[in-house]
Amino acid sequence: MSEQYILVTGGAGYIGSHTVIELIQNGYKVVIVDNLINSSFDAVSRIEFIVGEKVPFFNVDLKDEKSLTKVFETYSIKSVIHFAALKAVGESTKIPLDYYDNNVNGTITLLKVMNNVNVKTIVFSSSATVYGDATRFENMIPIPEHCPNDPTNPYGKTKYVIEQIIHDLYNSDPEWRAAILRYFNPIGAHPSGLIGEDPLGIPNNLLPYLAQVAIGRREKLSIFGNDYNSHDGTPIRDYIHVVDLAKGHIASLSYLNNLESNKGLFREWNLGTGKGSTVFDVYHAFSKAVGRDLPYEVVGRRAGDVLDLTANPTRANTELEWFAEKSIEDACKDLWRWTTKNPFGFQLDNYKWTIFGEIEGNRLHTVDLDGFKVSITNYGATIQNIELNGDKLVLGFDNLESYQSSSNPFFGATVGRYANRIGNGGFTIDGKSFKTEINESENKTLHGGSQGFDKKQWLGPIVLKEDDNSVSLSFKYIDPNGSNGFPSDLETIVKYIVSPKNTLTIDFESQIVGNNGDVTALNLTNHSYFTLGDDVIDEYQVELSTPKYLALDSNQLPTGETKKLDSTSFKFGSQQFDDDFIINEANELLDTRSQDLKTLVNISSSSHSIKVSSTEPAFQLYTGDGIFVGEFKSRAGFAVEPSRPVNAINSSNAKQVILRKGETYGSKIQYEFA
Ligand code: NAD
Ligand code: UFG
Repeated sequence: MSEQYILVTGGAGYIGSHTVIELIQNGYKVVIVDNLINSSFDAVSRIEFIVGEKVPFFNVDLKDEKSLTKVFETYSIKSVIHFAALKAVGESTKIPLDYYDNNVNGTITLLKVMNNVNVKTIVFSSSATVYGDATRFENMIPIPEHCPNDPTNPYGKTKYVIEQIIHDLYNSDPEWRAAILRYFNPIGAHPSGLIGEDPLGIPNNLLPYLAQVAIGRREKLSIFGNDYNSHDGTPIRDYIHVVDLAKGHIASLSYLNNLESNKGLFREWNLGTGKGSTVFDVYHAFSKAVGRDLPYEVVGRRAGDVLDLTANPTRANTELEWFAEKSIEDACKDLWRWTTKNPFGFQLDNYKWTIFGEIEGNRLHTVDLDGFKVSITNYGATIQNIELNGDKLVLGFDNLESYQSSSNPFFGATVGRYANRIGNGGFTIDGKSFKTEINESENKTLHGGSQGFDKKQWLGPIVLKEDDNSVSLSFKYIDPNGSNGFPSDLETIVKYIVSPKNTLTIDFESQIVGNNGDVTALNLTNHSYFTLGDDVIDEYQVELSTPKYLALDSNQLPTGETKKLDSTSFKFGSQQFDDDFIINEANELLDTRSQDLKTLVNISSSSHSIKVSSTEPAFQLYTGDGIFVGEFKSRAGFAVEPSRPVNAINSSNAKQVILRKGETYGSKIQYEFA
C-alpha cells in the first residue's frame, strides 16, 4: 500500500506549522493545503529545513472543491487536521459574511470532499471562545467540556457552527471520527527560533503585541482594564505553549486511529494547562525574558473580553494522556528568540524570491543591498548571479535547464561531496574501500560525481537579517548513504552571508546523520566563475598570496612534489591554470572555521576587483579554458575554489577530509567585490 499522509489544512499558519513539525518528527507523512491568506510560503520552507525533508504543499483555497479533490487524488490521505480559518475576533464583527463564508463554507467543502473519497477522520481546531463568558455560571471555572456554549462574536460562532456540522455528520454516519480540540490561548514559538507567529498589521493578541513593543515596532502595550475581579485586576487566561498544543494534535490523532475498527467518535477536548494567568503575570514573564520592563498603559476594557477563560484539561489528560509541559516562562523565552531573529516575522527588506524552473518548489532568492545583489537558487544551492551596481560579476544561466545539463561546467555550484578530484576510482578508510562514481577519464571522480550536490534541490533557505545588516540564507541538503558511491547519510548546511560591504561569505558545515554509516570522505567548495567586466579574462591582473602549487602528473593528480611560480603578480594573458595552490601544507583540521580568513588572491580589471579569502589550506585556480556553453566562451571567467588539496583522501594527510560520526566538518570562504 502506498504511504499514507495526514492532510493539514492551514499548515503554513501559526499553530499549523508547529503541528506539521511535530507530526513529521513523530514519523507521520504530511501534505499541507493553505491559500496563504494569513501566512507565507517561507513558513513551509522553514518547516522543511527543520525536519530535513520536502513537505508537499498545495496553494489551494478550501472552498475550491475541484482543486481540493485533486489533492486527495494525488496523495493517499488517511486523516485531516483542519486549522484553516480566519481568526481575528474584532475583524469578524466587521466582515461577518467573509468569516462565515471562509470558515463554515470552507469546512463544508472539505467535509464533502472527505466524504466523497471516504476519508472520515478529522481533528478540528475549535476554540475556548465557544464557551463565551463561563463566569455566567457558578463553578464553571476551570471550564469543563460540558460547559454550555455561548460564543459572543461571529468568529466564535463559526467555530460553534462547525462543531455542530461535524456532530450532525457523525450522527448521520457513525463511521466518522472527529476530535474537536478547543484551544485556550496559544503562545510562544518553536524553540529553534525559526517558526513563530507572524501577525499581519497590528497584532490583536497580547503576546504578539508585547513582542512588537519589545523589538521597537510599537510604542507601548495598552492593558485593557485593571478593574476585573482578579489578584491584580486584569483578566485571566490559560496560556499554552504552541508546541504543547501541537503535541495535543498528535495525541488526539493517535487516539482516533487506535479506536476499535468500525468504531466512530465525536468528542470535544480542551487543550489548556489548567492554570490561569493574568495580563500582568504574562507582562512580567515576558519583560523578564527580554531583560527590561516594557512600556505599558492601562486603558479601558476591550469590548467582549471576559474575566476568566481557564481550562479544565482533565479529559485530555486522562483520555489522550496528553499534558501541557511547558511554562509561560518557556513560551516567553521562545517568543523572544523568534522575535529577535525575525523582527518582521517572515518578511525581510532587501529580499525576494521567484519561482525558478519546473522542479516543484525550486526558487531563486535575491538579496539586494544598495546595488550589491546576490541571487542563489535551491537547485545545487547555486550562486546564479552577483551584481555590483548593475555589472554582473559571476557567470550564470537564466534558466534551470542549463544548470541541470551535463554540459554545465559547475557554474556557481556547491560541489560535493568531494570537490576537485579523487583518483583511483575511490578511497579506503579504516581498511574499508569505497568506489565512487567515475565521471572523468582515468578512474577519477570530479566534484563528487555526475549527481553531486550541484544537481540536488536544497531545502530552505532560512533567510535572516544579521546584526550588521547582512542578510544570511541557509540551505540544507541530506545526501543519502551510497550517493555517487559515498558512504553514510550526510547533512550539509551552506550559509551565504551577503553584507553591505559588498562581501559574500559562505559557511559550510556537515555532519553524519542517521544510522547508515559512520564515516565519509568530504571536501566542499563553491565553484563560481568570476568575470570582472571583460569578455575574456586575459587582461585581468592577478596577485596571489602564495607561489606554491602542487606538481601534477598527466592525470591531474598530485605527484607529491610542490612547485613555485616565478612571480605571484601577473596578468592572466594566455596562461592556463588548473592548479592547486597551497596555503597550509600541514593542515589537519576537519573544521577550519576556527582559523582566521586568509587572503588567497586579488584579481582586478579596469572596472572591478575581487578578493578571495578563506580558512582553507588550499585553493584551485582555474582559468576556465574548458567553458563552452551557451553564450559563454572559453576563458569567459575564472574560478577560485578554496578547499582541501586535490586527492587528499588518497594521500598521507587524509585526516582533513575524513568525517566521522559525531564530528563536524566546516570551512569558510569570502568574496569581496569592488
Ligand atoms: P493562522 O492564521 O496563523 O493559520 C490559519 C491558516 O489557514 C493560515 O495559514 C491561512 O492562510 C489558512 N487559511 C485560512 N483560510 C483558508 C482557506 N479558505 N483555504 C486555505 N487556507 C486557509 O491561525 P492560527 O493561530 O494558526 O490558528 C489555526 C486554527 O486554530 C484556526 O482555525 C483558529 O481559528 C484556531 N484557533 C486559534 C487560536 C489562537 O489564538 N491562535 C485560538 C483558538 C483557536
Ligand atoms: N490584552 C491586552 N492588551 C492587548 C491585547 C490583549 O490587555 O493589546 C489582554 C486582553 O484584554 C485579554 C488578554 O490580554 O485579557 C488576552 O487577550 P488576547 O487577545 O491575546 O486573547 P483572547 O483571550 O482575547 O482570545 C484568544 C484568541 C481567540 C481564542 C481565545 C481562546 O484570540 O481566538 O484566545 O481563549 F478563542
